[in-house]
Amino acid sequence: MKGICRFFQRFLHLILWLAGLTLIGYFQYYATEDIKPSKICQPITEVMFLKTHKTGSSTILNILYRFTEKHNLTMALPYGNEPHLGYPDSFHISYVEEFKTLGKKFNIMGNHLRFNWQQVRRIMPNNTFYFSILRHPALLLESSYVYFKNYAPAFRKSKDINDFLSSPWSYYNMTEKNNMHAKNNMWFDFGYNNNAEYDESYIQFVLNNIEEIFHLILIADFFDESMILLKDFLCWDLDDVIYFKMNARSQQTIQTLNPENKEKVKEWCALDWELYKHFNKSFWMKIQERMDLKTLYKEVELLQKRQNELMETCLLEETAIENHQIKDKNMKPFQGNTHIMGYNLKEDLDNKTLNICKKMTMPELQYTAHLYNSQFPFKKKKIFK
Ligand SMILES: *[C@@H]1O[C@H](CO)[C@@H](O)[C@H](O)[C@H]1NC(C)=O
Ligand SMILES: *[C@@H]1O[C@H](CO)[C@@H](O)[C@H](O)[C@H]1NC(C)=O
Ligand SMILES: *[C@@H]1O[C@H](CO)[C@@H](O)[C@H](O)[C@H]1NC(C)=O
Ligand SMILES: *[C@@H]1O[C@H](CO)[C@@H](O)[C@H](O)[C@H]1NC(C)=O
Ligand SMILES: *[C@@H]1O[C@H](CO)[C@@H](O)[C@H](O)[C@H]1NC(C)=O
Repeated sequence: MKGICRFFQRFLHLILWLAGLTLIGYFQYYATEDIKPSKICQPITEVMFLKTHKTGSSTILNILYRFTEKHNLTMALPYGNEPHLGYPDSFHISYVEEFKTLGKKFNIMGNHLRFNWQQVRRIMPNNTFYFSILRHPALLLESSYVYFKNYAPAFRKSKDINDFLSSPWSYYNMTEKNNMHAKNNMWFDFGYNNNAEYDESYIQFVLNNIEEIFHLILIADFFDESMILLKDFLCWDLDDVIYFKMNARSQQTIQTLNPENKEKVKEWCALDWELYKHFNKSFWMKIQERMDLKTLYKEVELLQKRQNELMETCLLEETAIENHQIKDKNMKPFQGNTHIMGYNLKEDLDNKTLNICKKMTMPELQYTAHLYNSQFPFKKKKIFK
């Protein structure tokens, strides 16, 4: 009798033990499910983007404009009929339309400005997410050269980019207006002195400052990877960061830097070169912290697939076209000093699709005017020039 009792006791213990294990496993399973960030994060709606020049930043501004409309947010737009927030002056809140009534209630800010943290923080909420984008200085200088050829005196005086770089000091005068596009333009856009001497402790000081304020610095040379990292930081949907390239130049306008001059840019724009090297490194570190490379490239593939789908849906020619081929004159982009490409939409799109396609292809100045008019209906209608 005693033996049978002991047997049942053991049997009961075994059952309880197994049940316990199952329960623990069950809770552990759900606990690990729970910590996946995609399930618990909320999309960030307070965002400040420092729009640097010739870095693919118009494409990002289009993404921000679309997000603003989708979520009915308020954008800190340039005052009056201006295209920029006071650039190249150091930013001041009075460059923003309705800064007195809407200050600290703005959600998104992203038009060109020269960064000034003390002023920007006066109008953006305290929990704002700050980000920007950098590009390899040699590619950037070539792009600036073509785009600002007649605008920056240093470029105007030289024959082509290789001529300019063969003896930059004979063309460059730091006191002449608009020459920031010819030397350390990114350094300048972040609010620092683009003519400062190369000095390691000064450079380290600036890099530290930027790191303290900006949560994320993207790299234009890895644009799709940048969009995936941005989406991950902001907890946005993939569709929010799908883009058609905006403000891209026609291939025929691209000048080729000879290898020697490509190296020379690293000295001529030494401050930008340090900036770029530093944040290229931290860009890849941030990717490693948040996802593995396999996930990154899987998501990049998804992004490109969705991008191709949308291009097929929206575009008449399936790609960007020359300005003179654009049929709707309201969809022609501002040309700068070069040939900026644009898009034709298919004609038989239903209203909902048409609206999506139109917003993805609307040039920057037109979209700025459109947002301005819908945000300030009581003001004089803004027109793009
Ligand atoms: C958008 O915001 C405005 C003002 O904040 C509000 O009056 C309006 O109802 C909102 N519209 C939608 C669709 O959420
Ligand atoms: C935002 O920051 C400013 C300056 O640091 C501070 O005075 C203000 O109380 C903060 N506002 C909120 C809502 O935290
Ligand atoms: C540089 O520009 C300033 C102001 O535009 C001018 O006064 C000065 O003579 C120029 N320097 C040279 C070396 O050309
Ligand atoms: C940027 O980072 C990538 C990945 O680590 C590396 O391959 C590349 O050489 C870096 N570029 C520069 C200019 O440092
Ligand atoms: C589509 O848009 C046009 C012009 O805005 C409008 O006249 C038409 O009624 C819309 N059609 C539908 C089905 O909403």
